[in-house]
Amino acid sequence: MKGLILSGGKGTRLRPLTFTQAKQLVPVANKPVLFYGIEALKEAGIKDIGIVVGDTQEEIKEAVGDGSRWGVRITYIPQDAPLGLAHAVKISEDFLKNEPFVMYLGDNILKSGISSLVEEFKEGKANSLILLTEVPNPQMFGVAELENGKVKRLVEKPKKPLSNLALVGVYMFDPHVFEAVHSIKPSWRSELEITDSIQYLVDQGYEVHPHLVTGWWKDTGKIKDILEANRLILEGISGKVEGKVDKESKVNGQVVLEKGAVVKNSVIRGPAIIAAQTEIKDSYVGPFTSIQSGCRVVHTEIEHSIVLEGSEICDVGGRIDESLIGRKVKIFRCPPKPSVYRFMVGDMSEIGIK
Ligand code: DAU
Repeated sequence: MKGLILSGGKGTRLRPLTFTQAKQLVPVANKPVLFYGIEALKEAGIKDIGIVVGDTQEEIKEAVGDGSRWGVRITYIPQDAPLGLAHAVKISEDFLKNEPFVMYLGDNILKSGISSLVEEFKEGKANSLILLTEVPNPQMFGVAELENGKVKRLVEKPKKPLSNLALVGVYMFDPHVFEAVHSIKPSWRSELEITDSIQYLVDQGYEVHPHLVTGWWKDTGKIKDILEANRLILEGISGKVEGKVDKESKVNGQVVLEKGAVVKNSVIRGPAIIAAQTEIKDSYVGPFTSIQSGCRVVHTEIEHSIVLEGSEICDVGGRIDESLIGRKVKIFRCPPKPSVYRFMVGDMSEIGIK
């Protein structure tokens, strides 16, 4: 069985971060989202993985390489434009040849992994296996309607959802899916939808098995969901303090402090992860915070947040909460006179002041 990870697309909902970075490389608990997908496939015994890439392909290739780090083989499949998930399958036909495969959306994280589902699919007679989960906002996803436990109808981002069962971004297919992706037409948003391809399989009488996911699942397409995924991953970490902590500081709970990180006169309350070459001074770092390498946090309180590499946050005074701070960002206090705010922020940034 092969793996196909979709890592093209535009990432418009994550601007301004995605002006300068692929959305699949935004880190959750200091690890790019895309790596969770590669690891899930590897864990399920899948070693031959194609990654569909678009405009951000150079960056993705640099981060992932040839896959040897995970003991897998990566083949990059360029997609000229993000013409839909089924289009991504269509252009991967040569790579997938006549084998069954798992398609994994590169911005999804699934807590329980996929190993048992891959086994179920390999042993069963289904032509496709889809994962579903109950969500409060089904209109944001592909939605499935079941009848007597069987898939009846699938609609992509319906205005009036037929159920609260969203399609999770992990799908398994046998080669019949190529018949489907060659037969469907682009949707109202001009994309070849995988949802329509699965509907095609159902309509043609192929076996599409639904599987209800019980553990958590996150599509990290929006900032709120990235912060939530960060919280969920950090909830499960084990602490490991290898950096330097001075006598005036306290480190409580599950905290990963990498070698080369320094904590001075500060309180770190886990779960939290702080990468190498980051300095925390006269500060409080609270639960569910991930700080990447080369950052400085001085005289500041921060929790439930993600800080990307090389950023400096100094003398903020109040507490930073539920924030996603990009790379090499500087947040600092202005001189007392004149009493002003001073910003130099990129397009589509968001700043909340109290
Ligand atoms: O996350 C689950 C949802 O994912 C499903 O419920 C929907 O049925 C499914 O259509 C998809 O919806 P999204 O709107 O979230 O898809 P998005 O455009 O974010 O693309 C998902 C991943 O696939 C992302 O990593 C980008 C990549 N992609 C997307 C398109 C449209 C490609 O590689 N090529 C493409 O042409």
